Amino acid sequence: MKTLSENDIHKLIQAVHSSRKYRDLLLPDDLLRDLISVNLPTSKDLAELKTNFRKALHNVIAPYLEDIDYKQETHQLQKIAPTLKHPESLKAYCLEIMSRHASTKERLPHLDQFFGTIHETVGAPNSILDLACALDPLCLPWMNLQPDVSFKAYDINGARIGFLQAFFQIAFPGAQAFQQDILLNPPPERADCAFFFKEAHRLEKRQPGATRILIENTDVHTFILSLPAMDLKGHHSLEATHRHLVEKTLKGTNWQQDVRQVGNELLFFIRKEPAK
Ligand SMILES: C[S@@+](CC[C@H](N)C(=O)[O-])C[C@H]1O[C@@H](n2cnc3c(N)ncnc32)[C@H](O)[C@@H]1O
Repeated sequence: MKTLSENDIHKLIQAVHSSRKYRDLLLPDDLLRDLISVNLPTSKDLAELKTNFRKALHNVIAPYLEDIDYKQETHQLQKIAPTLKHPESLKAYCLEIMSRHASTKERLPHLDQFFGTIHETVGAPNSILDLACALDPLCLPWMNLQPDVSFKAYDINGARIGFLQAFFQIAFPGAQAFQQDILLNPPPERADCAFFFKEAHRLEKRQPGATRILIENTDVHTFILSLPAMDLKGHHSLEATHRHLVEKTLKGTNWQQDVRQVGNELLFFIRKEPAK
């Protein structure tokens, strides 16, 4: 197909907003429009476009949809807010929530080492952008940041962002969470570093070369990207494939990379600028 009427685009978008699977996520229209337009040229008719669009959306969102009811969790969080003043209770709460999301769950045994490695490599950042964050911000108690650090988190999942905003208000009032497609609308502000954990391989599936575009458009000194070293079941090594993804992303640039491994995560420190 070459074109699609505005009316058909609208209907495809509305179908997502009213579907049981996605309605609570309040997905941004620009993301949905983008997925429609990239699938247009390879679809022969509207029926095929619907299928391809749904598949593309599933690949972006669904593999990391956990069964957390964020409205209910937010309500619960507000009820227990006073107890979270104690650092140990706050950590216990964060661990419990993160253990329900596949991606943060596998990082839990290594939290101190993970953020210790980041600290050793980039020092103490004053500003951080957490891109495609999911539940990463619940690692804040392990990040050992100064109280005045600027921490901004971005995800397309509106339900998760609503929960993170409530969490920040209670536990980290200086931090902010935004519902935003970081590929279409990368944060414009300058920061010391960006976190982009365990998402580059999937962003590349959505749009080959997207990681390079994202790094170019993110105004940071160091872009910290992580990728899994093994698949989620622990059966296959992904190390060569993921090192290759980063090599390809950096090809032709003067960006420098350092690689470290913590648990199942390969941490790529991509320096866009010379050492300070
Ligand atoms: C692999 S999961 C979690 C990654 C998380 N950084 C971690 O390490 O646990 C991917 C997350 O990225 C979000 N996401 C995917 N594409 C995105 C985009 N273009 N902009 C913002 N968030 C995105 C999804 O909603 C999901 O929460």
